[in-house]
Amino acid sequence: DWTMGAYRAEAVARIREQVGDAKVICGLSGGVDSSVAAVLIHEAIGDQLTCVFVDHGLLRLGEAEEVVTMFRDHYNIPLIHADESERFLSALEGISDPETKRKTIGRLFIDVFQHYADGIEGAAFLAQGTLYPDVIESVSFSGGPSVTIKSHHNVGGLPEKMGLKLVEPLRELFKDEVRALGRELGLPPSFIGRHPFPGPGLAIRCPGEITREKLEILRRADAVFIDQIRKHGLYDEIWQAFVAILPVRTVGVMGDGRTYDFACALRAVTSVDGMTADYYPFSHEFLSETATRLVGEVRGINRVTYDITSKPPGTIEWE
Ligand code: XMP
Repeated sequence: DWTMGAYRAEAVARIREQVGDAKVICGLSGGVDSSVAAVLIHEAIGDQLTCVFVDHGLLRLGEAEEVVTMFRDHYNIPLIHADESERFLSALEGISDPETKRKTIGRLFIDVFQHYADGIEGAAFLAQGTLYPDVIESVSFSGGPSVTIKSHHNVGGLPEKMGLKLVEPLRELFKDEVRALGRELGLPPSFIGRHPFPGPGLAIRCPGEITREKLEILRRADAVFIDQIRKHGLYDEIWQAFVAILPVRTVGVMGDGRTYDFACALRAVTSVDGMTADYYPFSHEFLSETATRLVGEVRGINRVTYDITSKPPGTIEWE
């Protein structure tokens, strides 16, 4: 792509000019935006960049390993893998209120990130994968009345607190342009086309109290559901798909025995921007096959339901 090739060269030059020989910290989430920003900045300033990946223990199956393999081994970008899952899960023990969960994760995330960033000597800049729509949204909402439905998980306010200047090389781009830039930079197509994943991770797909057992079930169930969607060639038609584990056990039969395991809900939606959404009209065959696989392959699940709520009035995530 000629346009993105030119943009890439221009962006690299601008980053070099802004940063000089200072050090830059970039928080990696595993999402497309922060990943594209990191690879672009690394191209511009090489090992003056250090990435910090906070692993809160609420990621999907194999996700942390994928991030580490891609950035550290494939791109050779200096990466700190902050495995703080124990700390996050302990802090979340006994909490079932959705907003308290989000706030607990958000606060701890900032503490942990700051702790690791403080260890990077001489850092003067913080890189963020802010996009153009984020820039406009924060302007048009300021001053107006606002209703917070869910508090979002990000590192807002952190740069000032840490005395860091911002590097935001994606500020002029829309999502599809970021994807094009990512392809231009050689990120794998499967990575660029990934469904969005929320900052608080699996915590908001686990209504009620979060336990290690529920998270483990959720990881396995989610992997089966996504595998089904890929096998049927539906992944790219769907905006986002995942499994939520319900805080309820139900009775079932398996062989000669009775089971008393968790019920889960499948969620899959189409959307343009995540603001509104419709549930995906899977065929009955697809749903039956998926339910059979989930109950057969995931220990701890014995009942499967499909969430057919649109947004509004529902939200995409369960919390
Ligand atoms: P809802 O559930 O509000 O989600 O309909 C809309 C989109 O936003 C994602 N989401 C988040 N993303 N931090 C994020 O980075 C968050 O705290 C967060 N909460 C929801 C959600 O996955 C969906 O794509």
